[in-house]
Amino acid sequence: PASTTRLPHGDLAVGGVCLTEVAERYDTPAYVLDEGEVRTRCRTYRDAFAEAEVYYAAKAFLSRAMARWIDEEGLGLDVCSAGELELAVTAGFPPERILLHGNAKSPRDIAGALRLGVGRIVIDSSSEIARLAAAVGPRGRQDVLVRVVPGVRAGGHEKIRTGTDEQKFGLSLTDGYAQHAIARVLGQPQLRLTGLHCHIGSQITEVKPYVAALRRMVGLMARIRDSHGVVLTELDMGGGHGVAYRPGEPALDPTALARALRAELRAGCAAAGLPVPRLLIEPGRAIAGPAGVALYRVLAVKRTGSTTFVAVDGGMSDNPRPALYGVRYAPRLIGRASTADPCRATVVGRHCEAGDVLAADAHLPGDVRPGDLLAVPVAGAYQLSMASGYNMVGRPPVVAVDGGRARLLVRRETLEDFRSRDIGG
Ligand code: LLP
Repeated sequence: PASTTRLPHGDLAVGGVCLTEVAERYDTPAYVLDEGEVRTRCRTYRDAFAEAEVYYAAKAFLSRAMARWIDEEGLGLDVCSAGELELAVTAGFPPERILLHGNAKSPRDIAGALRLGVGRIVIDSSSEIARLAAAVGPRGRQDVLVRVVPGVRAGGHEKIRTGTDEQKFGLSLTDGYAQHAIARVLGQPQLRLTGLHCHIGSQITEVKPYVAALRRMVGLMARIRDSHGVVLTELDMGGGHGVAYRPGEPALDPTALARALRAELRAGCAAAGLPVPRLLIEPGRAIAGPAGVALYRVLAVKRTGSTTFVAVDGGMSDNPRPALYGVRYAPRLIGRASTADPCRATVVGRHCEAGDVLAADAHLPGDVRPGDLLAVPVAGAYQLSMASGYNMVGRPPVVAVDGGRARLLVRRETLEDFRSRDIGG
């Protein structure tokens, strides 16, 4: 996780910056992103997957600075809307290293991708093929991948499992839809099929399902060669690499994954008489998640029969993950040392719902009180990117820390932001 250092008086430093100082300077709630940790994670992936192309999945977290870091570290970018695409390109990200996803790409997404010249577009449904070809126009040619559902079950929660047919993404391998779509793509002169894609789910902590999916994908590549005489040169295995949100939880090791995929790819291709395609991967959470820390201030403490409710100044509007997936975080008290016995606290947000719970069974000192600061580790992915305007609380700022210095990347959403969008009609 973010390169934390324990300081005296129970304080914590990230990227060489004391979190209490960040809270004082930028107010709470606030999200702190450790630039060095993001870069280190990019390098870990680059090293582990040296012969592959690593695309950071922007949906986990994107800002202009983040796009620049990803670019400087030599990764590509996976986007799934014109919004993510435009923001990245505005930051100077080279469009040819961008890949566009989406199960329902809007005309604006497609027009933006073609105008800016993204490297690849991933086809997710049959209905998209003719529409994309028409948008490319008679003289153009767009590199595409086809997203295949390999029929492998994996992933940390029902809502983020995408490897089998009972969900909306991709084209089924088992039912033959993928094969049909591939034949149609090959018949479109405006589209150049460079390879296949699959993404079996998210928050996966084991290597095995990836290997199983890869085996099926190589099998399909061999069948495409046999029936169409086409040898595909790319295989994108998506993202989904799990991280530990609390101490002791498992995480996926990118080096172990790279080793297993490489071995299976070589063996599978050799057996099928195929040249080894270029491997692509799309980690999002594993790059951004552990590099982030959320900071909250305690506003109220309520002791009921069995539970101590510790209410903070943020909650489900800046982090909907607990409400959506039932995940729990491990907040800790910072900014003062306490010798009080620990209590089992339920850390809740400030929103008007009983389900607005950030952590159950959090280990906090028994004297936790209003005004205290809490730090929530592993907050860099799918929190701010999924934040909402619920209760008009406003989304927190993002502060980058690096080498002992803090700087604002994204400012806090203010009441004025809400008011200015409401044109009063
Ligand atoms: N590639 C594709 C096609 C994806 O759909 C995703 C994530 C990724 C890559 C990156 O997956 P990652 O490495 O970050 O797991 N909001 C959920 C996660 C949704 C993931 C959606 N797709 C959460 O907070 O757990």
